[in-house]
Amino acid sequence: MAHIVGCIGTSHIPAIGSAMHKKLEDTPYWKPFFDGYPPVRNWLQQVQPDVAVVFYNDHGLNFFLDKMPTFAVGAASSYSNADEGWGIPTLPPLRGQTDLSWHLIEQLIDQEFDIVSCQEMLVDHACTLPLKLLWPEGPCPVTIVPICINTVQFPLPKASRVYALGKAVGQAIASWNSDKKVAVIASGGLSHQLDGERAGHINKAFDLQFMESLLNNPEWATQFSIHDLVEKTGTQGVELLMWLAMRATLSAGAGAGVHKVHSNYHIPISNTATGLLALASVA
Ligand code: DHB
Ligand code: FE
Repeated sequence: MAHIVGCIGTSHIPAIGSAMHKKLEDTPYWKPFFDGYPPVRNWLQQVQPDVAVVFYNDHGLNFFLDKMPTFAVGAASSYSNADEGWGIPTLPPLRGQTDLSWHLIEQLIDQEFDIVSCQEMLVDHACTLPLKLLWPEGPCPVTIVPICINTVQFPLPKASRVYALGKAVGQAIASWNSDKKVAVIASGGLSHQLDGERAGHINKAFDLQFMESLLNNPEWATQFSIHDLVEKTGTQGVELLMWLAMRATLSAGAGAGVHKVHSNYHIPISNTATGLLALASVA
């Protein structure tokens, strides 16, 4: 059966793509952000995942306000990147892992998650940048299954529902009849608000408590309503729901312990608090 090697949560600010393209990683503005990644890349080199399940939120590229699934699972053999308006370089298409996609879709529907299955799916910066940050050299070495969670148009799924989804995804991966190693990635956050009266809102205390909770008390954030989360973290800070789903994949099954590989927190990049957390699963 397939095995989850661990999970990684990371921010996905589009400017990261430009910074990598222009090789600005060691400049004073960017260094404290990029310095977080080498320990996580080294760990990935050791554990060598074959597949990444990527929880992310589409920002109006593949799904627009007219059709907005709450949860959508990709089932394509290839995912093309498109620039949805941030002016960042378009990355090469990512390879899908369709057998895992369909296994997840079947298991999730069976577990009463009425997800949308997508045999065609364009992916935006939120799917591509984490993979580029984790594997910066050459083509992406892992195949992917992207899972979209709506954080763009209200009503959004509750934190507790997102946690339950993550748990079901973790159980489904564990029951996938394959010897492949799977990494689970969450893309989003942390606290940020891009527009409106509170543009630039950042809540360091909450972000750090949230990151800490993912280690040993992963259900902590499920106590908050979506409105609480928006109030605390900003309208886009609610992207932290991806991290909750990611962490829940590891809470399932026997021997559900995790150990922290590395974390980093830096403010701000753009108008956003950036976070990075890698957790290895301990059997
Ligand atoms: C920014 C952050 C995001 O999460 C996003 O999707 C787009 C832009 C930003 O901070 O600039
Ligand atoms: Fe975003």
